[in-house]
This record gives sequence, structure tokens and C-alpha cells, in this order.
Amino acid sequence: MKKRILEMLQKSSRPLSGPELSRELEVSRVAVWKHIDQLRQSGHEIESTAGGYRLVTVPDTPFPWLFGPRSALIHYYPELDSTMNRATELARAGCPSHTVVVADRQLQGRGRMQRQWDSGEGGLYFSIVVRPALPPRECPIINLAVALDLVATLARCCGITARVKWPNDLLVDGRKIAGILSQMEIEGDQVAFVNVGIGLNLNNEPEVADKPAVSALQLTGEKVNRAQVLADFLQRFETRMATFSRREVLRQWRERTVTLGRQVTITTLRDDCEGLAVDIDDEGGLIVELADGSRRTVFYGDCFH
Ligand code: BTN
Repeated sequence: MKKRILEMLQKSSRPLSGPELSRELEVSRVAVWKHIDQLRQSGHEIESTAGGYRLVTVPDTPFPWLFGPRSALIHYYPELDSTMNRATELARAGCPSHTVVVADRQLQGRGRMQRQWDSGEGGLYFSIVVRPALPPRECPIINLAVALDLVATLARCCGITARVKWPNDLLVDGRKIAGILSQMEIEGDQVAFVNVGIGLNLNNEPEVADKPAVSALQLTGEKVNRAQVLADFLQRFETRMATFSRREVLRQWRERTVTLGRQVTITTLRDDCEGLAVDIDDEGGLIVELADGSRRTVFYGDCFH
């Protein structure tokens, strides 16, 4: 019912009265009033004017009912150890593709290469379970697609131009604004699911660990509505996956990266290599030209340039 009241208030260009809402929704005026009161308590600013109720702002907290038809797929928690853990549990229990786990804070936020991810109040921390119809070795392309959609969301919602650094950091003037961590589970030779974890520095002040970091608030001086940022991203990502084109992902990635054409050092779990980043291959591996002219493709590691 709250969802329907919100939809009506959002769509209407004028205030809606209690009797109007109660007629349309076929509930009593007292019930309408109670739902309005609950919406206010959960952070919606709803003005009572002579003409009725007017929605002023929606909450920043990503409550599921804010996501319209997608709401059943959103699992919101004020606090978790890591959204990765909860998303893995849901995925193993058979949740549908595009299930999202989002938390306001993480006590054990994880980054790539066994690092921690600073997950204080104000950031956006979520994991998406994807069940792609792709063979395992082709799945890293999903991370590139996520990075591109995050770039578009940051541009649309915050007016920020971010670039992608291989494998999938988002940088603004060399400082990290978002990171992506993904885990894949395989059954036989099929992908059971990919759990893509995304950390976006929005209204938080990220701790500078080994690499410089920055948030949208620090860049623009303005707070952004985290629920709207998540909704914008989910819409883009769903559309991209429904109309998936590897060629298009690779084309866009090449256009928006800061890595290609740079002298890079790649640290993998096995060894390090240095050279010129010349391209990415069809599976998202970075092609590096070494000092002796030979080429090596790297699929996992940390990149410094
Ligand atoms: C990185 O750049 O090292 C990846 C960071 C990924 C952080 C996100 S926050 C949501 C999800 N839950 C986690 O514990 N990690 C990812």
C-alpha cells in the first residue's frame, strides 16, 4: 500500500487529498493517514497542504519499496558484515538473477586482493547476484559492464566524470570513487552465479589506505540520494544485460579507460610484470607489451600506473 501511495504522489503534479487517495486505493482515510505517517517516519518528506499531500523528498536509505517493480529483489540491511556473504547465501538458496543485497554499513567490507573496503555511513555498498548464460571464462566481461554503467550513473546522478582503470576501479583525477569485487560459483562446467559487489563513495569520507580515494560529496560539495543512485544503476545494468553485446562493452571500455597506452606494473598473486598496456582482449584480459616486445595477457591482478 505504501508503494502505491508513493507512486500516486510521485506521478501527480498537484497535491492529492486524503479522500482522493482513499477512493482510488479503496481503503479508509484513517488507513491512508497511517501509511502517510509511516512513510514520514521512514524518511519521506510529505507536506500537508490545503489541497492535500505533496511528496517533497524521498529517503536516501535504499528501502525496497522505493524500487517499484524491482522491490522484491532488493534485500536491504542497515548493517551487515559484508553484502558479499549475504548475497552468496541467497544465491546458493536459489534466488533469482538480479537479486540485490544492500547495506548502509559493512563491518567487514572486502576489497580485491584480500584488502578491506572502508564501509562507513554515507557510502553505497551492494552486491548483485547475476546468473549469466555465459561460460565461466567469459564472465569477467560482466565486471567491465558494471564499471561502465557506474560511470554513466555517476555522470547522471552526480555530474561526475569518472574513468575506468583496469581491471575495474573507477577513478576521478587519479582518486578512487568506486571499486568492484566479483566472485563466481561454478556447477559442473556451468556458471551457477556471479556475485558482483560494488562499493561507491557517495556521501562518505573514504579512508585513504594504500591508494587515494574520494567521494561524490568531496568532489561536488553536495549530498546525493543513495537510493536514487542505486535505482539508476540497476535500471542501466538490467537493460545492458537484457541486450548484452560484448563488442559494445569492449568498445565503451576502451573509450572510457585511463589504462590503455600507459606504462603499467601488474601485480598478480603469482608474479609481477611491467610494460605498456596495449589493449584488452575479448574476455577482458589486459594485454601488456613487455620490454622484449613479447605480449602477455593478464586476467587477475592489481594495476599501477
Ligand atoms: C575493490 O576495489 O577492491 C573492490 C571493492 C568492493 C567493495 C564492495 S562494497 C559491497 C561489496 N561487499 C563487500 O564486502 N565488498 C563489495
